Amino acid sequence: MLRRLYHDQPASFEFTPANLAWAKGQMTKYPEGRQASAVIPLLWRAQEQEGWLTRPAIEHVAAMLDMPKIRVLEVATFYFMFQLQPVGSVAHIQICGTTSCMICGAEDLIRVCREKIAPAAHALSADGKFSWEEVECLGACTNAPMAQIGKDYYEDLTAEGLAKLIDEMAAGKVPVPGPQNGRYASEPLKGLTSLKEFESGRRQYNGSVQRAVDLADSIKRIDGTEVPLLTPWLGVKVKAPAAAKAEAKPAAKPAAKKAEAPKAADIPAAPKKPRALKASRKGGADDLKLIKGVGPKLEELLHSLGFFHFDQIAAWTGAELAWVDDNLEGFKGRASRDEWVAQAKHFAAGGTTEHAERVKKGDA
Ligand code: FES
Repeated sequence: MLRRLYHDQPASFEFTPANLAWAKGQMTKYPEGRQASAVIPLLWRAQEQEGWLTRPAIEHVAAMLDMPKIRVLEVATFYFMFQLQPVGSVAHIQICGTTSCMICGAEDLIRVCREKIAPAAHALSADGKFSWEEVECLGACTNAPMAQIGKDYYEDLTAEGLAKLIDEMAAGKVPVPGPQNGRYASEPLKGLTSLKEFESGRRQYNGSVQRAVDLADSIKRIDGTEVPLLTPWLGVKVKAPAAAKAEAKPAAKPAAKKAEAPKAADIPAAPKKPRALKASRKGGADDLKLIKGVGPKLEELLHSLGFFHFDQIAAWTGAELAWVDDNLEGFKGRASRDEWVAQAKHFAAGGTTEHAERVKKGDA
């Protein structure tokens, strides 16, 4: 399926203040230079806020994470969970069409969606309130057929039941999610056959449904004010490796021994710029593209930073590698991720690799 950006895009995107705080909190989960790891949570929050993923939202996330826009677009277009076109203002209905649900009546549910919402998946209903699509197994096969509507599952559905749910949502109600046939959870249809002693003490709804009812926001768009922002990792001092080791191993004499202070080698040095050259040496620059992970753009960037030869890269220390990682605009963290130093040592010693041979032939 070809997934493209929608033809009609809004002019801009901004996270709500609470969603922005949440997004920044997510970014702090990763070490400096690795913020790109937060791309999926940030895109997902942008979608939760607006219902679908707009081009300005994708570009906004790229700017926040210091990533090339194309990289974020690749993620957004790869994963089907990202909606690249507007969805219903009230709800987007995802009908599971995989084996269990199909056998138990998913096709009837899809027929209801075609009749009540729009003939084609991903199209808006005439009033703009609903949209629908068929999705792969959502992991609630015991309660087939089922649909995800907003954030919650509606299970054990019938065509009539789904039509009623849509009508209720259109009228501004949020129907109780979970099994729609009177089942408590995913017990046998005829009732519990074991652990019956717990039946009398249980709450009105099963755990997931109770939580959904308590929050009462199954189909509400997320603005970040729903739950408090928790970033318990911030301000927590990470134990130095040596101290942590000492703690993990029960000491022979627990009362007397203090944990060892971290050795200098355990503490990462501050980034330091490696020695650079104004131009390549006589004989010209090495072909840095032989290093796996370095393309023409990165090679150009390395030249602009003063690195032209394998032996230069091979000599980078840990602190120097950290400096290079930090200064690869748009490619931060690449040098250590792709182990440029080890690769450069290999090439400086006259070695080659399968990748290098393909580059030389123009196949990579
Ligand atoms: S087949 Fe529908 S939830 Fe698994």
